[in-house]
Amino acid sequence: MSARDDLSGVLLSEEQINKIVKDLGKRISEDYQDKNLFVICVLKGSFIFAADLMRSLTIPCRMDFLAASSYGSGSKSSGNVRIIKDVAASLEGLDVLIVEDILDSGNTLSRLKKLLSERHPASLRICTMLDKPARRETPLEADYVGTVVPDEFLVGYGLDYNEYYRELPMIGILKREIYSN
Ligand code: PRP
Repeated sequence: MSARDDLSGVLLSEEQINKIVKDLGKRISEDYQDKNLFVICVLKGSFIFAADLMRSLTIPCRMDFLAASSYGSGSKSSGNVRIIKDVAASLEGLDVLIVEDILDSGNTLSRLKKLLSERHPASLRICTMLDKPARRETPLEADYVGTVVPDEFLVGYGLDYNEYYRELPMIGILKREIYSN
């Protein structure tokens, strides 16, 4: 029994993901030439994307992790964002790029953006692998979007359901019977 058996379909293959990440890395490398790029990887979902994205950069870059949770073990955003782990260093004067796996309701990222902007970075942008505009509750647009996705329950490439499926190399649609039980 493999985790892939719980998918009703594959939205993005490993190959498609690689191309998206490479293109994003190229754009970001161009835009941040001669800048002071500091990547914030928002755990846990974006750990795989951030690792791949950073390896596709051709410019110097530093990074840290920040953990925020809005979903708990369910599938719907609660609207409450808890900071579980903060970045260690001062962000003053840095060109901060928040890296997320998915922009959904926008609640997490809009709160994070507000919080981090108070720390006086030189610039503050958002890069998300997936954008699901159909679910937006707080108006927010990412500066870099890998791809826009439909309103399906997506797992893999860091995205979870009840903490499972993060390890899948593709982004798949979870079978309805798995999460509606
Ligand atoms: C997911 C995702 C984003 C957030 C996006 O994290 O990684 O951080 O939800 O949703 P929003 O736009 O509706 O706020 P989650 O809270 O599920 O934690 P995880 O990354 O540890 O899986």
